[in-house]
Amino acid sequence: MIKFGLIGCGRISENHFRAVEQVQDAEIITCCDIDVARARSKAQEFRISSFYENYEEMIDKEQIDAVIVCTPSGLHPEIGIASASRKLHVVTEKPMATDLESADKLIQTCDKNDVKLFVVKQNRLNSTMKLLKSAIVKNRFGKIYTVQSNVFWQRPQSYYDQAKWRGTWEFDGGAFMNQASHYVDALYWLIGPVDHVMAETATMARKIETEDTGSAILKFRNGVIGTLNVTLLVYPKNLEGSITVLGEKGTVKLGGIAVNKIEKWEFDEFDEDDTSVFDSSYQTPNVYGYGHLQYYYNVIKALKGEIEPDIDGRDGRKSLEIIKAIYLSAKEGKKIALPLK
Ligand SMILES: NC(=O)c1ccc[n+]([C@@H]2O[C@H](COP(=O)([O-])OP(=O)(O)OC[C@H]3O[C@@H](n4cnc5c(N)ncnc54)[C@H](O)[C@@H]3O)[C@@H](O)[C@H]2O)c1
Repeated sequence: MIKFGLIGCGRISENHFRAVEQVQDAEIITCCDIDVARARSKAQEFRISSFYENYEEMIDKEQIDAVIVCTPSGLHPEIGIASASRKLHVVTEKPMATDLESADKLIQTCDKNDVKLFVVKQNRLNSTMKLLKSAIVKNRFGKIYTVQSNVFWQRPQSYYDQAKWRGTWEFDGGAFMNQASHYVDALYWLIGPVDHVMAETATMARKIETEDTGSAILKFRNGVIGTLNVTLLVYPKNLEGSITVLGEKGTVKLGGIAVNKIEKWEFDEFDEDDTSVFDSSYQTPNVYGYGHLQYYYNVIKALKGEIEPDIDGRDGRKSLEIIKAIYLSAKEGKKIALPLK
């Protein structure tokens, strides 16, 4: 039985509690939040025997194998490093950090202590995304010309006012770092390494440090031109989370509010994947989707030593680096080449 301790009992923690409840051979045996009432409430709801206000006390006292980090993003490295130093495996919510230096320290500390690091990118596991990835791996598009992703969502001022960390550079990042980070990850995962980026960002309506709107052009090393358009100002509610791939012999658009629908699927040659297209679209209650459960299947098998982590620290760092390049380009008004120095 793999025993987890969960740190940060806020909004996304629910997905983790529910997912681990459903997987075999694992349980969350303790949890922690600086707002101890939240930790107590989750402990009661999920029948967990102990809860803490201080995560260091939790990881010192409890007999656990791994931590699940669901705190504000800027705290993921500090908590991950403290846990890895005590020989605990680390499952961290995305983004793994808000800066590359601390992401690197987290990766190095996990390596040094021979523990695994998992970065939660559950969208890769959506049925729609898996089909698109399969089409690319099978080379069904022929030459891919261009890819476009739109994240057109609504986050009212009240969302940012819920917690002080939201919309800050140190703990959150903006629309690209928080909401669109799954889409940046998807573009990298589907198309490949990015050569350079150009971007514009703006804070048009929300009272926050970071951006609520932006557009980026990504030039991939294989020549594909990508565009990513993001805004959190859609009136009156979430409109679209989409990825469109246009190639020589195929056209696919994943749409819906969070790539949960296949809106276009056309290739010049038939493949057995085509028979799954109709069934792969699904309703999603929110933009987080259902991927956390799928994600834990990999985490548990990897912790048992049966397979490698699907998305480890080095993989999680790739999208962070692209997002950092997007921010640098917007700030300096110029093209930014990757890897960043
Ligand atoms: N994978 C996804 O789709 C997805 C979706 C939403 C959020 N997230 C990520 O999850 C993280 C949390 O987001 P959220 O929306 O749940 O935020 P939230 O503010 O609702 O929850 C964060 C919790 O962490 C607690 N906390 C803060 N500092 C702490 C500390 N030092 N020790 C213990 N607890 C501490 C807070 O009190 C709060 O309860 C963010 O990194 C975010 O990017 C991922």
